[in-house]
Amino acid sequence: MFRFETAGESHGECLVATLTGLPAGVPVTLDCINRDLRRRQLGYGRGGRMKIETDTVEIVSGVRHSQTIGSPIAMIVRNRDWQNWTGILPVEDYEGSEEQKKRLDRPRPGHADLAGAIKYNYPEARYILERASARETTARVALGALAKSLLGQFGISVLSHVIAVGPVRLNRLAAWQELEALAVNPDLLLGCVDAEVEQQMKAVVDEAYRTGDTVGGVFEVVAHGVPVGLGSHITWDSRLDGRLAQAIVSIQAVKGVEIGHAEEGAASFGSKVQDTIHYDKQEHAFHRGANRAGGLEGGITNGQDVVVRGFLKPISTLRRPLESVDLPTRDAALAAYERSDVCVVPAAGVIGEAMVALVLAQAFLEKFGGDSLGETRRNYEGYIQQVKSY
Ligand SMILES: Cc1cc2nc3c(=O)[nH]c(=O)nc-3n(C[C@H](O)[C@H](O)[C@H](O)COP(=O)(O)O)c2cc1C
Repeated sequence: MFRFETAGESHGECLVATLTGLPAGVPVTLDCINRDLRRRQLGYGRGGRMKIETDTVEIVSGVRHSQTIGSPIAMIVRNRDWQNWTGILPVEDYEGSEEQKKRLDRPRPGHADLAGAIKYNYPEARYILERASARETTARVALGALAKSLLGQFGISVLSHVIAVGPVRLNRLAAWQELEALAVNPDLLLGCVDAEVEQQMKAVVDEAYRTGDTVGGVFEVVAHGVPVGLGSHITWDSRLDGRLAQAIVSIQAVKGVEIGHAEEGAASFGSKVQDTIHYDKQEHAFHRGANRAGGLEGGITNGQDVVVRGFLKPISTLRRPLESVDLPTRDAALAAYERSDVCVVPAAGVIGEAMVALVLAQAFLEKFGGDSLGETRRNYEGYIQQVKSY
């Protein structure tokens, strides 16, 4: 069974990620994981924290001689900021620790602060912030890189780009080659494939900086090379569109998801929305008139690119804080401010890639199984043969 988990607090020692169920023999390099960790830290509009951290992964089990060995994989990413927090978040209590505590008494609207403090019965929200923070997604990105390593063995790649920041939107489709070019650009600005639109996006982020505000947007994740037949129509929880939607909305600040051109489709007539079916008798292959369905019909991949979009609300922590309540006194007060990002849409796209890769890897292994990569490959190739001769 392919399953994964993360642990770790935003200002704790490290983030931890575990993954069980990858077959033995999948090539893994630290470089591949670190490259995605680096990409998660890029983008115009990030706050001071990303300048402190240079995320690099340590693999502590499950990979030997650059390959998975079938046993659970455990990884850690250390928080450099931890050195400033050892007295604030100690594992063992000590005399005088109360004065060191960095209490979060004025919960920030839009964060888990208040609901979490009430639920876990804390008088203030420090421990809630520590786990709710999107720092946790560092571990998800490391896991996603492992999923990508498996998928890459079968010609499947997962990349992302930004299609909107605030009101500025990219109004054309992006080619796969454009996403490939973005993924290797070390000077990434806002992750948009169109330089002119990207400058307009930057102007929106600049305005947010100027006014002490924040801004959201939309990222698109594309999975290329996905075979027909992952996921299934037979039960609600095997439908891959639903599983992808959950994975994307589980990302901090993502409040909506779109598979293919769902929003546009909802405003159109059916004749303009469905992807027509055609057959090339020479090539003995089906092809489609368009890919508005985002590569999924009935919860099953149809062989086209899988296209999933995530809608991010603007970051909740504002330099110009919103109204809140001081928990000890219950008096009206302005919300707490902690060093914060202003725009994170490109980073959310990289996290979206990780979540899509993890869901696809899970569905892939459900279909093809295998304790070793060779076994998975045999099963996969047998199926592809079946599809070709359909
Ligand atoms: C990459 C990334 C970075 C984020 N950075 C911040 C941040 O610096 N400050 C902030 O207030 N929220 C940030 N968020 C969003 C919060 O983590 C999120 O809004 C909060 O945990 C509440 O969860 P919810 O918005 O999903 O309900 C970030 C989200 C992502 C995806």
